[in-house]
Amino acid sequence: MSETSSRLRGPAQAHPASGLAGSLAAPGDKSVSHRALILGALARGETRISGLLESEDVLNTAKAMAALGAGVKHNRPGEWVVQGTSGRLSTPPEPLDFGNSGTGVRLVMGAVAGSGAGADFVGDESLSSRPMRRVTDPLGLMGARFTTTDGRLPAHLEPGELAAIDYTPPIASAQVKSAILLAGLGAKGETCVRELQVTRDHTETMLKSFGAEIDVTREGGGTRIRLTGPQRLTGQVVDVPGDPSSSAFAIVAALIVPDSEVTLTGVMNNPARTGLIETLKEMGADLTIVPGPVMAGERTMTVTARTSPLRGIEVPAERAPAMIDEYPILAVAAAFATGTTFMPGLAELRAKESDRLAGTAALLTVNGARVEAGEDSLTVYGAGPKGLEGGGETVTHHDHRLAMSGLVLGLASRTGARVDDIAMIATSYPDFFDHMRSLGAALEAG
Ligand code: S3P
Repeated sequence: MSETSSRLRGPAQAHPASGLAGSLAAPGDKSVSHRALILGALARGETRISGLLESEDVLNTAKAMAALGAGVKHNRPGEWVVQGTSGRLSTPPEPLDFGNSGTGVRLVMGAVAGSGAGADFVGDESLSSRPMRRVTDPLGLMGARFTTTDGRLPAHLEPGELAAIDYTPPIASAQVKSAILLAGLGAKGETCVRELQVTRDHTETMLKSFGAEIDVTREGGGTRIRLTGPQRLTGQVVDVPGDPSSSAFAIVAALIVPDSEVTLTGVMNNPARTGLIETLKEMGADLTIVPGPVMAGERTMTVTARTSPLRGIEVPAERAPAMIDEYPILAVAAAFATGTTFMPGLAELRAKESDRLAGTAALLTVNGARVEAGEDSLTVYGAGPKGLEGGGETVTHHDHRLAMSGLVLGLASRTGARVDDIAMIATSYPDFFDHMRSLGAALEAG
């Protein structure tokens, strides 16, 4: 983790760039990093993790797992050892603070509930405004006794035993699915989650590698996942693959900044995460994909992106879960394309670190793009070869992905662009500034 980039605060300016060039090792995947710490804490014995993403969100999960009784040791950059509790988390005396992280708090709610422990859960202003009933309701059906603040944080969980449920989440959410599965590990009987749309399956993959007996079957357009509790996990070695969501910023920057060629290595190549790559290819992006090694049960790839004339397309709504975090940066790419890009099925974007649908529309508009925000859709009218003027300031609303998207837009614009606050970038991609500058991007804090 870079000391300088992780401590940056306040506004920043992206200056117009050209010729971005170089190669980056993709930062560790955030979803896999959270899960490695949580499963390590639930398992028997030692879990050795390398390539852990040392971002604020993940570090908050590491602290929470230590407060819940796991041994959590940081050896070298990216290298962590977790001494598991054999499924017996203990009720911590202080509230668990998850900062900005929805994934951290929701997954740990499931893990704590399933282990029979209790806890208080708190977060920052953004996280405290996000919906928690999507997790506390199904966990409540299993017998977990949560009290929330009108469905939001702070939340309190009383210690107690759980029983299995058969549950169909009303929304496509890997966080909801994962919270129930983690709770199901400790609940008596067969827990079944039926997801109507496939979402990222890292919890299922990692549970298997930690020795869980878990059945995953395709059902209609979705998946049925079953596990019978109580089950014990065994500590493992986890080599975290690179994050496709963080890699998206350098990839899109290379596509829209003139004369660029950028390579990212070790990017996780999981169909539940690669919707953006598929979409960019349909838009005409010049991307070369070369297979890499399997890491933590996940395929990886090397992605090379070169400046490309992009064209607008309609993005299928069913693809949304496979690129849910990538819509802000896709919308930036679309603003430089020729023609219109229509992105339907985006209701969930309003429940992210900020209302990302509104925030994305605002960051484009303020920089001279034409965009329409519907209730659950975005339409971007691409500027074509004349490009975007820029000159606007992105209001980030404590949202890391809006901040990084606003800066990438500025690099490709005629006059550059500002963002009001870059502090939140450290929640998911602390090396963003160092990485982008190493490619030749002129990013200035202050
Ligand atoms: C995540 C799932 C997604 C995603 C988030 C990470 C995960 O959230 O937006 O950044 O690690 O399970 P939802 O499951 O709420 O869509």
